[in-house]
Amino acid sequence: ALVRRTLFNTGAVSMEGCPEADRGEAVFIGRSNVGKSSLVNMVTNRKSLAYTSKRPGKTQQFNYFAVNDKPGKEKEVKYGDYVPGDKDPDSFYMVDVPGFGFAKVPEKQRQAWSDFLAEYIKNRSTLRVIFHLIDGRHGPIDEDNNIMKQIGETKPDNVQYVIVLTKADKNVKGPNVTNMGKVSKDVLDKVIDTARKNNVGTAPIILTSSETKLGRDEMWKYMRHAAEA
Ligand code: GTP
Ligand code: MG
Repeated sequence: ALVRRTLFNTGAVSMEGCPEADRGEAVFIGRSNVGKSSLVNMVTNRKSLAYTSKRPGKTQQFNYFAVNDKPGKEKEVKYGDYVPGDKDPDSFYMVDVPGFGFAKVPEKQRQAWSDFLAEYIKNRSTLRVIFHLIDGRHGPIDEDNNIMKQIGETKPDNVQYVIVLTKADKNVKGPNVTNMGKVSKDVLDKVIDTARKNNVGTAPIILTSSETKLGRDEMWKYMRHAAEA
C-alpha cells in the first residue's frame, strides 16, 4: 500500500483523552517488549515514528499515529502539533499502546492501562482492527490468554481480530523445538489452541519481523480495513 505520510497526533491515557472518532483505527496490543512500536515503524517505513527500546515498558500511553493524512503540511506540522479535523478520506489511525505483563510497572499503572484497553476495545466506535502481537519465539503468556478471552467476549462484530507472531527473523533455540520457518510448530500450536479456547473465531495469523520486514504486505491487507471504515 502507499503510505503518503504518517504523523503523530496525540497520546491518551483514558477514553476522554482519545482524539475525535473521525476515522478508522488499527490498534497494536501485546506484552511489553513484544515489538509493537517496532512494527508500527516497520509498516510505515519509518525509523523512529514510534519510540522503541531494548527494555520493556517503553510506551506509556495510547499513541495515535495518523496515516494518510492530507498531503502538503508535513514540514509545517511539528511533532505533537497535529491539527485535527483535516483528513483524507482514507486516513486512519494506528494506535500503539503500552504493553502488558511487565512486573516493573507499578500495579496501579498496569491496572489503569488494562482498564482503558478493555473499555477501548468494547466502546471505541471507530476501532476496526486489533493486531494482537505474540512473541513468535515464546508463544502466549497468561496475559495473552486473558486479553484474548476478553476480546472473545466483548469485541464488536465489525472489529477484525488478527494474531501477529513477532520477531520471526530469529530461529527458535532449545530442546524439543522443531522449526517451522522461523516460528516453531510448538509455538504455533499453542497460539492456535489459545485462540480456539477463547472463542476468537478463526483468527488470521501473520508472521512478522521488523528486522527483515516479513509480513508487511499482510499487515497492510488488514490495515486497509481500518482505512475503509
Ligand atoms: P513496550 O512499549 O514496552 O510495550 O514494548 P514494544 O512492544 O513496543 O516493543 P518495542 O517495539 O519497543 O521492541 C522491543 C525490543 O524488541 C527492541 O529492542 C526491538 O529492537 C526488538 N524487536 C522488535 N521487533 C523485532 C523483530 O521483529 N525482530 C527482532 N530481532 N527484534 C525485534
Ligand atoms: Mg512500545
